[in-house]
Amino acid sequence: MTTEILSTATPADCETSVRRAADILKHGGLVVFPTETVYGLGGNGLDGEAAQKIFSAKGRAADNPLILHVAAPSDASLYAKTSPLFDRLAEAFMPGPLTVILPARSGVPKAVTAGLDTVAIRCPAHPLANALIRACGFPIAAPSANLSGSPSPTCFCHVADDMLGRVDAIIAGDDSEIGLESTIVKILPGDRLLLLRPGAITPEDLKPFCLEITVADAVFKPLETGEKPLSPGMKYKHYAPKTDFVLLDGDADSIKDYLLKQPDKIALLSYEEELPFFSALSNCTTISAGPKTDLSIFAHRLFSLLRIADGEGYQRIFAPLPPPVGIGLALYNRMIRAAAYQIIQLKSE
Ligand code: TXA
Ligand code: MG
Repeated sequence: MTTEILSTATPADCETSVRRAADILKHGGLVVFPTETVYGLGGNGLDGEAAQKIFSAKGRAADNPLILHVAAPSDASLYAKTSPLFDRLAEAFMPGPLTVILPARSGVPKAVTAGLDTVAIRCPAHPLANALIRACGFPIAAPSANLSGSPSPTCFCHVADDMLGRVDAIIAGDDSEIGLESTIVKILPGDRLLLLRPGAITPEDLKPFCLEITVADAVFKPLETGEKPLSPGMKYKHYAPKTDFVLLDGDADSIKDYLLKQPDKIALLSYEEELPFFSALSNCTTISAGPKTDLSIFAHRLFSLLRIADGEGYQRIFAPLPPPVGIGLALYNRMIRAAAYQIIQLKSE
């Protein structure tokens, strides 16, 4: 399949590209489009066959449901049974990087929900994503636009690496502002929320809108053998670079001591403040992950850095384990999964 690249260089290009992309989607095709979190691989969310095509383009297991992207939060009630808590969350966080799991209405294809009786609803804030859904007049089903198991794409070149020849078109937008996928919450009875996937909207942000918010155990650790996942995506290997990726839990001194004993040609994703300290290591290339004091920069860069470092032939890529607070929780969750839970505990003072 030839993949059309749709330009966004000028406002006129954006308009033409959105029109062309909507036309492709209306005819059952697939279009990759930018969002504020990561790029999405979209198809008509009301067309089961288009959803099937998404699964095959991505190499995704059919039991892992898709998010339905709507142009306005008020459209959610067309496809899901909403509630006062949903309305409060929508008012505060939509359009934006929040996905809410709600009971599904009957018109949503089984291929989208993977046969579950719930559906994931998100209203993206990115102007191109929003304009595209409006131009279609139907919701867009879209997972992240990576091949299953790889880090989600946060820039056009990484989308092209995975999706050229697999989709009808790619809208060549800007780099994703956030860089990690949306926060996913499920609404539980009694005004309670269950956090299934952390993102830029943190539990601290959500707490004032509900009675209680619980973070699913699977956010912090692998599922136990035989444990049923609360969200199907929890059971799949995720975000992993091909190179061995290992997390180090310790202070800068203990990390340096540990890396000194490692073989040649390793890489470390290092906080900006610690770059000069680690640059003395002759066997290790240091890559800036942004300041320790603002983990949103690390979040913005993580997937992209993993993809870039993957092509450099390092024997191993290391990174410090971030503190799981604020946006750090989302970063922590993606990193432990990218590292296949390889965390080395180092002695700290
Ligand atoms: O930021 C994002 O959310 C991006 C952009 C493109 O919007 N999308 C994204 O989709 O990350 P995906 O498919 O890569 O991740 C969606 C996750 C999966 O882990 C899936 O299992 C879960 O949402 N999910 C979808 N529907 C669900 C449902 N009804 N119940 C529980 N989990 C669900
Ligand atoms: Mg994904």
